[in-house]
Parts: sequence; structure tokens; C-alpha cells
Amino acid sequence: MTLKALFAATATAALLLSLPASAAQITVGFSQIGSESGWRAAETSVSKQEAAKRQVNFKIADAQQKQENQIKAIRSFIAQGVDAIFLAPVVASGWDAVLKEAKEAKIPVVLLDRDIDPSGKELYLTAVTSDSVHEGEVAGEWLAKTVGEKSCSVVELQGTVGASVATNRKKGFDGVVAKHANLKVVRSQTGDFTRAKGKEVMESFIKAENGGKSICAVYAHNDDMMVGAIQAMKEAGLKPGKDILTVSIDAVPDIFKAIAAGEANATVELTPNMAGPALDAIIAFKDKGTVPPKWIQTESKLYTAADDPQKIYESKKGLGY
Ligand code: AHR
Repeated sequence: MTLKALFAATATAALLLSLPASAAQITVGFSQIGSESGWRAAETSVSKQEAAKRQVNFKIADAQQKQENQIKAIRSFIAQGVDAIFLAPVVASGWDAVLKEAKEAKIPVVLLDRDIDPSGKELYLTAVTSDSVHEGEVAGEWLAKTVGEKSCSVVELQGTVGASVATNRKKGFDGVVAKHANLKVVRSQTGDFTRAKGKEVMESFIKAENGGKSICAVYAHNDDMMVGAIQAMKEAGLKPGKDILTVSIDAVPDIFKAIAAGEANATVELTPNMAGPALDAIIAFKDKGTVPPKWIQTESKLYTAADDPQKIYESKKGLGY
């Protein structure tokens, strides 16, 4: 063996020894929803990076927004005998049968970024998610504080019907609105978490609300729908961020660009790094039998124009978005 080859072999051995005992052998299958939003695309690329950091063999199945494709992917992961399954459930219901199959095959399941119905609670190991009711509350409280005593008609762009995050973000926001007699949600419709649908639904809200003149604020369950809504407002001759206040969820780079331009007002951050904590939990579970908490909660921080949005835009751009 040449000296160079010996050095290379020693360096590889040192790297392998520094890894957790079984990490090099773990295979994780991730059933991802699709790529409806910038946040979702970032979650996919961050997941790959986090798996690579830990030398985990990572397989991603893109369900193109269909639950039936997610169920098929989970069955295929079970047949392949993966060590763990990550699932970002497009909707909350309808998982019990397939998750029972995973449990019978002794394959731990980790939920990423969305929840399932309580009937499935015993069927997964842990869930890495934000408190999505709280996200809605943070958005509502920002609006209540910003408008003060003024009466304010709000239009709401909901996420995918049946998704836990859509149900919860609505619930949290409605809870705050109920405490403020001057706030009223006058229209609420799904925009399916996409820019195109957000724009389309906002256009219909503007038409129905006196060319947008009777709308005081838009609440969108994600930034992508808000970016679409901002476009709709501009095309209707309105000034988003001024004539109509905006608050949404995710904190993707494009919303910071809009906040920096004065066309959006506030966003609640959802980290796209759900896989990092999920991989750590699975590695500890596999290596040492450490059972993680049932819920690994991520932060929900509010950002506004006061937070140097241009700088945040620049810093976030490279991070998988
Ligand atoms: O489940 C998380 C949500 O799904 C994000 O807020 C949204 O952008 C995404 O598509």
C-alpha cells in the first residue's frame, strides 16, 4: 500500500469510528407530500443534507399531494425492510391501517411537520412538529395588536383541507379573533398551500369585497399563498402591506423580500429542519433503545419589518430554499 493510500484508509476509518455505532447502516424511507410550497421544497433538501451528515441511507418518495401514493410508499418501505419511516401526512385521517402494518413489521414511524388523528397515537414513535394552533395564535395576536381598536375585516387563505396544520392554524387564529370584537373573519377558503391557488382565491375575495376596499387584512396559512395573494392585490391596484395588512406562516425567503419591499407585514417561522431531530431520535432509539418524547416541538417565532428582513432574506436563500 502506498503512503497516500494508507493515509486515505486511516482517514476513512477515523470518520467511521467517530459516527454513532449503527448510523452507517441505517436506512430511512421518507414519504414526502410533494412540493406544493417553497417551505416543502426546503424541507426535502434539508432532510437530504441532514441524512448525509449522519451517513444515513435516505430514500424519499414524492407523493405528489396524494394520500394513496403515501400509503403505497409506506408499504414499499415496509417491503424493503427499512430501519425507520418518516411520514409528512398530507391529511390527518386514514393512516391507522398502514401504520399498523409498519408496527407489525417493527419499523418505527416518525411524523414530520403534520399530525395525524388521535386514533393513530400508538402507531408512531414520535412527531417532530411545531404547535400549529399556537402559530395561528401568534398570527392573530400580531394582527390584534397592530390594528388596536380599529374594526378590521379579515380574509383567510386556508391550507389543504383535512391537513392538521390547516385545521390548527385556523383554530388558533379564530381563538384570538373571538376575544376581539373589532376583528372579524369575513371570508375563508382553501388555497391548498400553493401560490397559484392563493392568488386565485384572493382575486375572488377582492371581487366579492368591493374591489378589496372592505378588506383590512389577509391571514394565510402559509407564505406561498400570501405571495400569490400579494400579486393579486397589486394587479387589482391595491397596496399590500399598506392598504391591506398581511400575516402568514413559514418564514420563507420570498416573504422576507416582500416584507423588505413593504408589501407584507409579518410571518411566523416554521423550520424546514424537521429531519435533523427526527434522525437523532431514530439513531438514539436504534443504538441505545432511547425512547424519544412523543412530541419534539419546534419553535414558532414572529418576524416583522423590525427584524431586518433584507438580511434574513439573504441569509435564508442558501438554506435549501
Ligand atoms: O405542514 C407544513 C406546511 O406545509 C407548511 O406551512 C406549508 O408551506 C407546507 O406546504
